[in-house]
Amino acid sequence: MSLENKVAMVTGGGSGIGRASAMTMAAKGAKLLVTDLNLESAEAVAAEIVAAGGTAEAAVCDIGEEDSIRDAIETAERRFGKLDVLHNNAAMLSDEALIGDQDILTVPVHVWDRIMEVTVRGTMLGCRHAVLAMRRAGGGSIINTSSINGIRAANRMPAYSVSKCAVNMLTEVVASMHGREGIRCNAVAPSMMRTATLERLVPKEIIDYNADAALLDRLGQPEDVAKVVAFLASDDAAYITGHVLPVDGGTMAHLPTYDAERRYLLANAR
Ligand SMILES: NC(=O)c1ccc[n+]([C@@H]2O[C@H](COP(=O)([O-])OP(=O)(O)OC[C@H]3O[C@@H](n4cnc5c(N)ncnc54)[C@H](O)[C@@H]3O)[C@@H](O)[C@H]2O)c1
Repeated sequence: MSLENKVAMVTGGGSGIGRASAMTMAAKGAKLLVTDLNLESAEAVAAEIVAAGGTAEAAVCDIGEEDSIRDAIETAERRFGKLDVLHNNAAMLSDEALIGDQDILTVPVHVWDRIMEVTVRGTMLGCRHAVLAMRRAGGGSIINTSSINGIRAANRMPAYSVSKCAVNMLTEVVASMHGREGIRCNAVAPSMMRTATLERLVPKEIIDYNADAALLDRLGQPEDVAKVVAFLASDDAAYITGHVLPVDGGTMAHLPTYDAERRYLLANAR
């Protein structure tokens, strides 16, 4: 799987899954525009890529602002001549959003609105400007970052879950409307991945429950998602479009009784 001669841009590329996908795609030969709300973090990732022998530049991109998204995509075209791949990865993940979004009974309306505004509208605007650029390039691949929370409900993060469900439909809509122009659109739907934001905000017990709910014997890492993003970006995925692909260690493949039963059977094994 090679990304030689491809130009890719990542939003939210300064940390976590976006950082891992930028590093992975660059290692496979893509020229990267690493973007983030926080320019310093994007610059640090671009510098890491260059230090490893790859090609990368950094730019600011706030997916809450259409002008910022348009500017970043035009920067990718100006610096590298075209845009082939957008990993449309950023979402509203501020502390206020993550802490306030607990239950529909209590989530402040401004927090709900901001999550929809940034995650749903921002992901749509990323698709809009990527499609316009990819028309100019003669085709391309958009990979949205969804979540398993956009496919199955959890007992927390209602606005986040609804916003990621919208990202899933957006993925199908973009794939449906632009496939004949050679533009593919897919989404990755990660389960809980071990990132710095996660370690900072999510209690260890909840992280452990999520690891326990996976069929594989560990929590996911950002690199697990990044490798799937790189595959979907590549020509090896040339006939894949309109899909939301869980990267979840099997978390969604089983019944709700799975992890409790597994623990019981292990404890009572003869
Ligand atoms: N980590 C997980 O467990 C997990 C699971 C499922 C889905 N996701 C999704 O993966 C994506 C990346 O999350 P992560 O876990 O890597 O988070 P992260 O906090 O490690 O990184 C998010 C990055 O996005 C940037 N960002 C925040 N607001 C932005 C904005 N308005 N415009 C542009 N950039 C912005 C941040 O500065 C940060 O660098 C998100 O869409 C998230 O919903 C994460």
